[in-house]
Amino acid sequence: MQISANLKNRLKNADKIVFLTGAGISAESGIPTFRGENGLWKNFRPEELANFNAFIKNPDLVWEWYQYRREIVRKAKPNSAHLAITGFQKLFKDVTVITQNVDNLHTRAGNENVLELHGNIEKNYCIDCKQRYDFTDFSENKKGVPRCKKCGGIIRPDVVWFGESLPQDIFRKAENKTMQSEIFFVVGTSAVVYPAAGLAYLAKDYGSYVVEINIDTTDFSYSVADEVLLGKAGEVLPKILSLAETLRK
Ligand code: OAD
Ligand code: ZN
Repeated sequence: MQISANLKNRLKNADKIVFLTGAGISAESGIPTFRGENGLWKNFRPEELANFNAFIKNPDLVWEWYQYRREIVRKAKPNSAHLAITGFQKLFKDVTVITQNVDNLHTRAGNENVLELHGNIEKNYCIDCKQRYDFTDFSENKKGVPRCKKCGGIIRPDVVWFGESLPQDIFRKAENKTMQSEIFFVVGTSAVVYPAAGLAYLAKDYGSYVVEINIDTTDFSYSVADEVLLGKAGEVLPKILSLAETLRK
């Protein structure tokens, strides 16, 4: 893997770095990505399941799809890419993880300052009274959507669906950290879902050095990326971490 003098220089001197992550960072934990060969969306069009109207129309189906994904997530373990980020957090002053993933693996890996743009699959809330529930409250409810213990409303996963807006306070924090960053790593995302993907352009506008890590090229590779490191996140990130450790000794 070739790493440029520019990136080495930033790895040596930067204080503030950001990781924008997508489903690809969890692929090596055995969690299917959304798009591509074995993508989760392959047998369903996203708009069929991941939107509020679909949920109201067929809450049992959507709930069961999330319960199925939760089981995969619960069995999965953070991989060497998530763990490398914990290493970066020991080395650099200010490290932020902005994730589109709902799988909770960053937190389980011990990553701090995790901004979840699309929510968290382990959390739920009642669509009527907004009472919050954990995954464990309903781990037995594999079939059929559960009802709120307070008001009888139906319970939905605390994730952002198509057509819904991102949590504004979290997105604003993500924008601030992005604008201040000196290195902006984009890891395992297909770069097609906005506004998350737009953060890479914001980083670039504010003078950050944008490094893409992906097994394949994406729209970013030919537009915003200053450097593209092709390979698995679980292999590339530990290598960059060990280089940074050497450079900052
Ligand atoms: P995608 O499934 O669209 O893209 C996954 C990306 O990871 C692809 O570019 C793959 O090439 C790459 N990839 C796969 N394995 C990899 C590995 N081992 N190392 C590095 N890269 C790898 O997932 P996202 O970009 O995260 O939104 O999708 C964005 C959003 O679309 C999701 O958050 C979800 C979905 O709709 C919501 O649920 C709101
Ligand atoms: Zn309720």
